[in-house]
Amino acid sequence: MEKIVSLCKRRGFIYPNSEIYGGLQGFYDYGPLGVEMKNNLKRLWWKWFTMEHENIVGIDGTIIDHPRVWEASGHTQSFVDPLSECKKCHHRFKSDDLQSNLCPDCGGELTEPKNFNILMGTELGVIEGEKTKAYLRGEACQTIYLNYKNVLDSTRIKVPFGIVQIGKAFRNEVTPGNFIFRQREFEQWDLQWFTHPSEMDKWFEFWKEERMKWYHSLFNDHSRLTFYKHEKLVHYAKKAFDIQFDGKEMEGIHWRQDWDLGRHSQYSGQQLDYTDPETNEKYIPWIVETSGGVDRTFLFLLMDAYIEEGDLRLNPKIAPYKVAVFPLVKNKPELVAKAQGIYKHLKLDLSIPSVWDDRGNIGKRYYAQDEVGTPWCVTVDYQTLEDNTVTVRDRDTAKQERMAVSTLDSYFTDKLK
Ligand code: GAP
Repeated sequence: MEKIVSLCKRRGFIYPNSEIYGGLQGFYDYGPLGVEMKNNLKRLWWKWFTMEHENIVGIDGTIIDHPRVWEASGHTQSFVDPLSECKKCHHRFKSDDLQSNLCPDCGGELTEPKNFNILMGTELGVIEGEKTKAYLRGEACQTIYLNYKNVLDSTRIKVPFGIVQIGKAFRNEVTPGNFIFRQREFEQWDLQWFTHPSEMDKWFEFWKEERMKWYHSLFNDHSRLTFYKHEKLVHYAKKAFDIQFDGKEMEGIHWRQDWDLGRHSQYSGQQLDYTDPETNEKYIPWIVETSGGVDRTFLFLLMDAYIEEGDLRLNPKIAPYKVAVFPLVKNKPELVAKAQGIYKHLKLDLSIPSVWDDRGNIGKRYYAQDEVGTPWCVTVDYQTLEDNTVTVRDRDTAKQERMAVSTLDSYFTDKLK
């Protein structure tokens, strides 16, 4: 983990937030390479749901909702972390993490667990005394439930169907830590799948398996991905599985049933039921949720791709750069012009994220690209000027292949399919 944290900072994947002020616990920013990789990841996720599956549409909801939403959802009451405090040093610990009732820091006696709500509050309005208490959403999915009727009324979609969203969520985590694993501001990607109650079992199993398949398509070592069945359930779930990486939660598959729509219907006084257009049956659809952490997936992908010698074996689809282009030396204008032509063509005509490097020697440039996971490096050398061929070097095998410049387009587009 230390090596990954250092790589992330050094090469521009992730920086601690507000570092010049000493940092802010639980907050991180993505740098130039990090934002590219995160966007690649989110695009793949979005395309997989909305293009490779039927009957799924997206929304992009707000971070602040009506305060009643969080009463109806149960979060003001039940979104709690039980904490124990040391009677001697007064440090507080998540009770779930404790092995005994002695303080892990000083060995002092701990108090009985007390509940702390982790919803992050804010205020709306500018006039003192007239401000309204509101919350930054503790889970992104609530905006999907709030818009479920709007989506039904404004599209031709019918049950069973899904609504997806990628967006920020906020939690006053008592013990943020492990780099971006547990943050106070983070991003979630959710599917809420609306089904007839009689088909709940089928769809729950379907999405559970389908999501694992998706993660398999991105990770190298599938043995590090496992399911974990929850015995202790959160307030909205009747059944829950996690997809874990190295035994740590990455995504939750939750059987939310009619909890959310039922409660919003009750709290808002609005009818949120669905009428089947063929049978006229009226019912509140049941919900299967798949809710994952974008940041956690990002972190676990780095851990999966990291090779001690300094390589990052990222799936080319998520690597920040796909191709690096080098002139063998930077002081030969013909080589530089030829290499610039290839670089610009890949970037501008083929939209393949590419990077230019002419510093140091070729060995150092390969090393620098391996370190950030660039799958291929193209070198323009003296032979290029004679026969219009270049070398393409593969990150994982370190093998170089000589090929005609005219074949580069199909070579890379095939590889990135
Ligand atoms: N809507 C359901 C929900 O929010 P959750 O299990 O609390 O369920 C879903 O969160 C996912 O969000 C988790 O599997 C995890 O990947 C991510 N997540 C939760 N809390 C997080 C935190 N403090 N920092 C980073 N990611 C977090």
